Amino acid sequence: MNRLFVVSNRVPLPEKGAQAGGLATALQPLLEREGGVWFGWSGATAAKAAEQPARISHAGRVTYATIDLSKAEHDGYYANFANGVLWPLLHSLPEMMRFDRGDAETYFATNARFADTLVPLLQDEDLVWVHDYHFLPLPGLLRARGVANPIGFFLHIPFPSAEILALAPPAGKLIAALLQADVIGFQTSADLRNFAAAATTLTGARQIAAERLEIDGRRVQLGVFPAEIDAEEFAAAALRAARSPTVERLRRSLGGQCLILGVDRLDPTKGLVQRLAGYRRFLETEATWHRRVTFLQIAPVSRQDVASYQALRAELSQLAGEINSECGDPDWSPLRLITKGGPRTTLAGYMRAARVGLVTPLRDGMNLVAKEYVAAQDPEDPGVLVLSRFAGAAQQLDAALLVNPNDPDAIAEAIARALAMDLRERQTRWRAMWQAVTENSPLDWGLGFLRVLVQSASKPTAQVAPPHAKPLAPRHTPALHTPSNAIN
Ligand code: G6P
Repeated sequence: MNRLFVVSNRVPLPEKGAQAGGLATALQPLLEREGGVWFGWSGATAAKAAEQPARISHAGRVTYATIDLSKAEHDGYYANFANGVLWPLLHSLPEMMRFDRGDAETYFATNARFADTLVPLLQDEDLVWVHDYHFLPLPGLLRARGVANPIGFFLHIPFPSAEILALAPPAGKLIAALLQADVIGFQTSADLRNFAAAATTLTGARQIAAERLEIDGRRVQLGVFPAEIDAEEFAAAALRAARSPTVERLRRSLGGQCLILGVDRLDPTKGLVQRLAGYRRFLETEATWHRRVTFLQIAPVSRQDVASYQALRAELSQLAGEINSECGDPDWSPLRLITKGGPRTTLAGYMRAARVGLVTPLRDGMNLVAKEYVAAQDPEDPGVLVLSRFAGAAQQLDAALLVNPNDPDAIAEAIARALAMDLRERQTRWRAMWQAVTENSPLDWGLGFLRVLVQSASKPTAQVAPPHAKPLAPRHTPALHTPSNAIN
């Protein structure tokens, strides 16, 4: 396969250890196996960031190339525009958006600096794969610098309706630049449909097929590629971890109570306030479960430089205190809220120990934790997944107890139903979900996308190359089987 050149804001540099977030989880296996370059932000800020060259390091078959951000870039591009405007808007939570024109300008300028640093690192036949909302304009900025390579883009988070997107003043400019990619991938067909509608409303694009747009004589292929986990590997890790001292300690601390578990970055989109309200409602209405359950919510702090995230942390701590002081007993705390993360394997063991997995985001691109919870279960005695119908994962995991995360009563009812569910129903539901999570791997996901990218970029009308650009000559198409959900 042609060399793979991945661009994402967050780069899981080996020396930094595991990183939170679905993007790294989805991409890492592909890069480790296929090799390539992973380019993005180092995670650090530096006073003279713009004067430094990219920092290059190698681990296994992967070359990491990262740049620092200046404080102004970090604030304007990452904290304020990407996470304060695009993140809430793309999750259809416009009331959370804080727009400032200066931040938008810094976002475009920082994207341009990423493009300037990236171009000299590119080789002619590289497949460029750009990820997520930090880099919406990057395809256009690369084309403007003469890059004729195939460019793919994958959005890990949801895409909203055109009306919601248009609330961000530069929406049209962002989409027009993104349309310079050859292939644009989404987690669900609803995201794809929303994007096609936004592109035709906000730019001159025309929809020429369900999954194809045309703009300025170029074709842009759209596709649905649900992100996957390596379920077999996660299941094995959960089985091993279940016998580890850490998980054994947790189990002992429960003294025979049923464990309800949530694992989410501490993020306003994850529906944590509503989830705690649902649990509180459960405690108020289901007195027979008192002293027989503990809810462990692991919510590693995230993006603490964004005001809404700080406010959420304070609100959750207060709510947790109220639940324990008002619904607990001297010898029973119904809720444990932990804002530290932990090794993925330990979390896998906790998931296996949990009778109920609560995954109730207000909206989520996919939510790989839902898939991990399924993979971690003991097939003989599986727990029950309570899942938001607004997570992308609900498309594949419809055998979960699906809830509206905005409705605390619905969450309370689902918890009670999950705890009371008989073994046969738990097994039937789990088997259907296990089937869904084992159908494709992250490798299938990545190679399926790249296959479509190679095919689309080699079609004559797919791109109009600048006169000096070399024609694309893919060496071969990625060979693994195409996932059933990848389209071409
Ligand atoms: C989500 C996003 C990723 C992001 C991750 C962690 O999974 O889709 O792009 O990297 O959250 O967020 P952070 O802001 O810490 O990178």
